[in-house]
Amino acid sequence: MTEKREVVWHQGEVSSAERQALPGFRHQPFVFWFTGLSGAGKSTIAFALERQLISMGIACCVLDGDNIRHGLNRDLGFSPLDRKENIRRVAEVARLMMHAGLIVITSFISPFRDDRSMARSIIGTEHFREVYLNASLDVCERRDIKGLYRKARSGEIPGFTGISSPYELPENPDITIDTSFLTIDSCVKSLLSNVRL
Ligand SMILES: Nc1ncnc2c1ncn2[C@@H]1O[C@H](COP(=O)(O)OP(=O)(O)OP(=O)(O)O)[C@@H](O)[C@H]1O
Ligand SMILES: [Mg+2]
Repeated sequence: MTEKREVVWHQGEVSSAERQALPGFRHQPFVFWFTGLSGAGKSTIAFALERQLISMGIACCVLDGDNIRHGLNRDLGFSPLDRKENIRRVAEVARLMMHAGLIVITSFISPFRDDRSMARSIIGTEHFREVYLNASLDVCERRDIKGLYRKARSGEIPGFTGISSPYELPENPDITIDTSFLTIDSCVKSLLSNVRL
């Protein structure tokens, strides 16, 4: 591995202000960090929010857990160490995309408080909005849209969040949305009403 001292940061010339003067980029970029159980609605709301922001002419993109595990993080599993590395890489990518001027929406279970706090410090606390998609285990298990809870209960999937691996509740999320009762549309509206664009 290359020694860190031989790697020198090369500062670019374009400022954030210059980038934000471009059409479609006239907003302060930040990261919506979605967290919640499998089936809580992270992907559903993330893509619905992206749809809404794009229709408002705002540059944004989604980094979705399952999708990222098809590519960038295909080498990672679900041990606590791999989960940490999954989150670290995603936080680094989110930071790069945010600096490129995008509002970034990440949808990862991100069950461990320490990992979410690492993501916050990589991205910078002033740009980080932790969004807790709160749906009870009972609701998520009844949805079981991918059939994963059934497999986790039967022992076919070990270390499954909420069943055989913990989900550490966010202590002080910036935004909490209860997806058990609200429609997808009202969840998106509620998110938008919580941020300044
Ligand atoms: N208000 C709501 N918000 C989001 N999803 C909802 C809501 N009401 C019902 N649902 C349904 O709940 C399911 C949520 O599934 P989704 O794949 O979005 O969960 P997820 O949190 O991304 O799970 P995973 O961590 O496994 O990727 C979908 O079938 C969606 O239609
Ligand atoms: Mg998902």
